[in-house]
Amino acid sequence: MELMVNGERRGVAPEWQDEALLWVLREHLALTGAKYGCGQGLCGACTVLLDGRPQRSCLLPVRSAQGRRITTIEGLAGPDGRLHPVQQAWLDERVPQCGYCQAGQILACAALLDQHPRPTDAQTTDALAGHLCRCGTQQRIRAAVKRASG
Ligand code: FES
Repeated sequence: MELMVNGERRGVAPEWQDEALLWVLREHLALTGAKYGCGQGLCGACTVLLDGRPQRSCLLPVRSAQGRRITTIEGLAGPDGRLHPVQQAWLDERVPQCGYCQAGQILACAALLDQHPRPTDAQTTDALAGHLCRCGTQQRIRAAVKRASG
């Protein structure tokens, strides 16, 4: 089986083909940006983009990601290393605290701005629903979304 991850074809060994995408990314392909939080699709820490849309990877069978474009936080910056505008806004607003949920939050916001370049507050709220942060970075995340949307 092959996956398309961050623009590269990555082989998946047979013993990993019945696992959830999160574990294939983290343990097999050494892409550890997506995090394990709840394992139940509730916290958002494991979020990646599938064909540009946020997807919880902890419950998703890896076979379901076959033939789709997978983007993890490791692949969000441009090929020249230039940060995605959301990543730059994250730095400018000093968003992260412990950092654990941030890859999922950033990817969710990148997808939001892709779909709605100038999102309303309600659209931002919707996009961030189910992305938990125990450090309380939510207000800075909202500021970063506003900054990245120009
Ligand atoms: Fe997947 Fe929490 S680890 S949603």
